[in-house]
Amino acid sequence: MAAATRLISRLTLVTGGGSGIGRSVCQRFASEGASVVVADISEESANETLGSLSSDLRGQGHMAAVVDVSSKESVKKLVASIQTRYFQPPSVCVNAAGITQDDFLLNMEEDQFDKVIQVNLKGSFLVTQAVAQALVACGAPKGSIVTVGSIVGKVGNIGQANYASSKAGVEGLTRTAAKELSRFGIRCNCVLPGFISTPMTDKVPEKVISKFPTLPHTFFLSSLCRPPEVADVCAFLASDDSRYITGARIEVTGGLFIG
Ligand SMILES: NC(=O)c1ccc[n+]([C@@H]2O[C@H](COP(=O)([O-])OP(=O)(O)OC[C@H]3O[C@@H](n4cnc5c(N)ncnc54)[C@H](O)[C@@H]3O)[C@@H](O)[C@H]2O)c1
Repeated sequence: MAAATRLISRLTLVTGGGSGIGRSVCQRFASEGASVVVADISEESANETLGSLSSDLRGQGHMAAVVDVSSKESVKKLVASIQTRYFQPPSVCVNAAGITQDDFLLNMEEDQFDKVIQVNLKGSFLVTQAVAQALVACGAPKGSIVTVGSIVGKVGNIGQANYASSKAGVEGLTRTAAKELSRFGIRCNCVLPGFISTPMTDKVPEKVISKFPTLPHTFFLSSLCRPPEVADVCAFLASDDSRYITGARIEVTGGLFIG
């Protein structure tokens, strides 16, 4: 199927859809024909994304929703509201909600660690579980769940003990979900972005960015990648083009930290 229409009739839930990578995923998916539920803790941002989505393809209808992915009750309400509106659960889910609360390990407060784990790791668990439960309950023939990890979950990063731990956990969650859910036709894959230019990375000081490697084997020439680079890979993982791929992690880093 042509890339431009391969997501027609795929109802897609995107958490963190109000900004950065999540917003770009919403826009890319809408442009390929998906109906998109833009879910974010910020209602204003979710609505802003909603207003930017194209809807010229067959049967498209988007909605914005407020959710706190770290709250089981909030996630359950979200999935129920999607089923009320569309009479089906989302068959595609992209877990892009995430936060940072950086500090050196020697200074990090317990609360900083807990908060980042709650949103990034527990949030991915709650959303993945709720979507999978709804798909299995209605006997849906297939589904695709994409989690957003990070290259720092693999290699670590100074000042990010909480964040790197959460993202390493997201990879383990994804591979386990892939093993458990494959018999229901649900694929689960993890995207590992490198350093992508978004409001999240706007907080990284210039002196840290200037230290990123510019090794000869990388395409990473000290400029940051952009959210559409990640959205392209998410669209591939959502579509039947990746029908034989599950439990995989795909690095979208421009060659940063190969190996
Ligand atoms: N930008 C990067 O360099 C980079 C690199 C690797 C991984 N990532 C991951 O990609 C994802 C998106 O990051 P981004 O750079 O677009 O960040 P961003 O800050 O631009 O967007 C994150 C979005 O998540 C939402 N959010 C935060 N807490 C939430 C909650 N509890 N419930 C629901 N929504 C919530 C925010 O309101 C925001 O709209 C995150 O998981 C992040 O960890 C980003």
